[in-house]
Amino acid sequence: MPDESDSPSNIEVIKQRKKEGIVIPLTRNVQAKESSTYLEFIKLIHNALPEIDYDGVETNQKFLKHNFDAPIIIDSMTGGTPEATKINSRLSLVAEKFGLGMGLGSQRAGLLSSELSETYSIARSNAPTAFLVANIGGAQLSKGLKLRDIKNMIDMIEANALVVHLNPLQELIQPEGEPKYKGVLSKIKEICENFDIPIIVKEVGAGISMEVARKLESSGVSAINIAGSGGTSWAAVEKLRAETAHDSNKINLGELFWDWGIPTALSLMEVRKSVKLPVIASGGIRNGLEIAKCIALGSNMCGMAYPFLRHASKSFESLCEFTNKTLIELKSTMFLVGSKNISELGKTRFMVTGELAKVKKWII
Ligand SMILES: Cc1cc2nc3c(=O)[nH]c(=O)nc-3n(C[C@H](O)[C@H](O)[C@H](O)COP(=O)(O)O)c2cc1C
Repeated sequence: MPDESDSPSNIEVIKQRKKEGIVIPLTRNVQAKESSTYLEFIKLIHNALPEIDYDGVETNQKFLKHNFDAPIIIDSMTGGTPEATKINSRLSLVAEKFGLGMGLGSQRAGLLSSELSETYSIARSNAPTAFLVANIGGAQLSKGLKLRDIKNMIDMIEANALVVHLNPLQELIQPEGEPKYKGVLSKIKEICENFDIPIIVKEVGAGISMEVARKLESSGVSAINIAGSGGTSWAAVEKLRAETAHDSNKINLGELFWDWGIPTALSLMEVRKSVKLPVIASGGIRNGLEIAKCIALGSNMCGMAYPFLRHASKSFESLCEFTNKTLIELKSTMFLVGSKNISELGKTRFMVTGELAKVKKWII
């Protein structure tokens, strides 16, 4: 992300845009400003008598028939520019080493040349057994992306699943964006009918509502990644790009909608309540305690994007340290609530406090 224009002659422009999609989140503050994930309003209940040993806590999880060593997915980020090769290379090594899932960035650029395709396929070379997820944009579907192209994207990384990302806010603010979402749902249905790997639909940081979740469920998708607000803001990224493009209307919109979206905890509660599908929680999740809260709220897996990007830009060692730290935080939380595995954590009690307690009555 951002997505590509249709003209293959624009390869250099696309590479530049993909590069900005990494460099801006790394060098500027594009995290939520005045809003949050609302996860701070969830308090897990301390168990003074956990009756388990810390060393006996197990974080493995089964999701979409795949066995993960932890309920963590490195969320969809990049590809399509030489700078992405190093990032995807390090991320995929970590996914393989720690038994995590990993999403690739929007892949249409990978169809334009073998040089660009390798920026994605490096992930499969490095992670022969990891759960890798291919990625296309909803806006690309409405422009008539062909099933053959989607198949090529899946084959490019021998994907275990395909993500369709929904990014209407980003398309609205992106200087070259195309906010065209007519017919996207029927395209999603068509994809579900034509591919035999799981189809996951995700947002990119503005959340999924219960109405959208129900539509997706009846269209045949296999799982939903809510990607709520409170973390990386794509309105912010595109606002900064609009400044370079001197596009005053987009700058204004980017500022106005910087914090737009359904906070992650609220989106997760809405979606969990309204559909039976497996759910990935993401958007602003930054540590193992927050992962535990999301599992307690009913998510099957958790995704994190920006924290993995930040560490991947430093070194493989930094990524491993961060992943280890997150796992220790998750296991510690599990110990303190007395859950020896992820299934028990999913049943643990929690309090809903503050602002989230006030709005909860609208959804339950
Ligand atoms: C550098 C970067 C690139 C991203 N590119 C994509 C993308 O190509 N496709 C997609 O579905 N989401 C993309 N996202 C969105 C993330 O997958 C995620 O939904 C969002 O950043 C919220 O998670 P976070 O707060 O943990 O960063 C990207 C995020 C980042 C930080």
